Amino acid sequence: MVDPAAVDGYLESFLLPPDAVLAEVENACAAAGLPAIAVSRLQGRLLHLLARAIRAERILEIGTLGGYSATWLARALPAGGQLDTCEIDPRHAEVAAANLTRAGLDGQVAIHLGPAADTLARLTGPYDLVFIDADKESNADYVRAAQPLCRPGALLVVDNVVRRGAVADAADQTPMVLGVRRLLELLAQHPSLPATAVQTVGTKGHDGFLLALVAD
Ligand code: SAH
Ligand code: DHB
Ligand code: MG
Repeated sequence: MVDPAAVDGYLESFLLPPDAVLAEVENACAAAGLPAIAVSRLQGRLLHLLARAIRAERILEIGTLGGYSATWLARALPAGGQLDTCEIDPRHAEVAAANLTRAGLDGQVAIHLGPAADTLARLTGPYDLVFIDADKESNADYVRAAQPLCRPGALLVVDNVVRRGAVADAADQTPMVLGVRRLLELLAQHPSLPATAVQTVGTKGHDGFLLALVAD
C-alpha cells in the first residue's frame, strides 16, 4: 500500500494550487511550537468547499489553535461574512491572530478567548456552519449549545471522531473517546440532527469527520 501521507501529497499536487499565504500560516504555527494537529490541507479545503457550497455567511469554530482551519473557513466567506472562533489558550489565540492578520482575514474573524462553553453562552449566531475541533470530552455539550445558534439547514462538522478506530474499541475508555461516544449517543436520540461520519486517512493518519444537519 502506498503511504496515505504520500497519497495526500499526490492529490494535493493536482487539487491544491500553491498558496504562499497558507504556507506562511503553516510555517508560523510550526515556528511557534504549536502541536501539529491542525486539519490537513485537503481537509482544510473540504471545510472551505462545504462553507462555499452552502454559501455560509456566519461560521462558528470551536478550537482555533494557530488559525489554520480558520483561514480556510474565513476564505470561504462573502464580503460582510464573519467567522467566530473560540480558543482557550492565549498563546494559541495570539499565534492565530497574527496568522489571520497576515492572511488579510482579521476583519472577518473574531477570536473569542476563553472556555468555549462560556463563549457559546454569549454568542447569538445564527450560524450556517459550525466546526467543532477542541476538547473532545465536550463534543456533545458543544453540539447541544451550538444547535440553537444555528439556522435551519446549517451544517455541523466535528473533527477526530474515529481516532485510529479507538471509537469502536470497547476496551478504549480514554476521556477523548468517551467524549466522541457521548456525541454519537446524543445524535442517536436526535432525529432533528441527521448525521453521518466519514473515516479519513492521510497525513493525519486514520481518523474521521462527523457531519450533522440542523434539520428544518
Ligand atoms: N481547528 C484547528 C485545530 C484545533 S486544535 C485547526 O485545524 O487548525 C484544538 C484547540 O482547541 C487547541 O488550540 C486548544 O487549546 C483548544 N481548546 C481546548 N479546550 C478548549 C476549550 N474548552 N475551549 C476553547 N478551546 C479549547
Ligand atoms: C489530534 C488531532 C486533532 O485533529 C485534534 O483536534 C486533536 C488531537 C492528534 O492527532 O492528537
Ligand atoms: Mg482536530
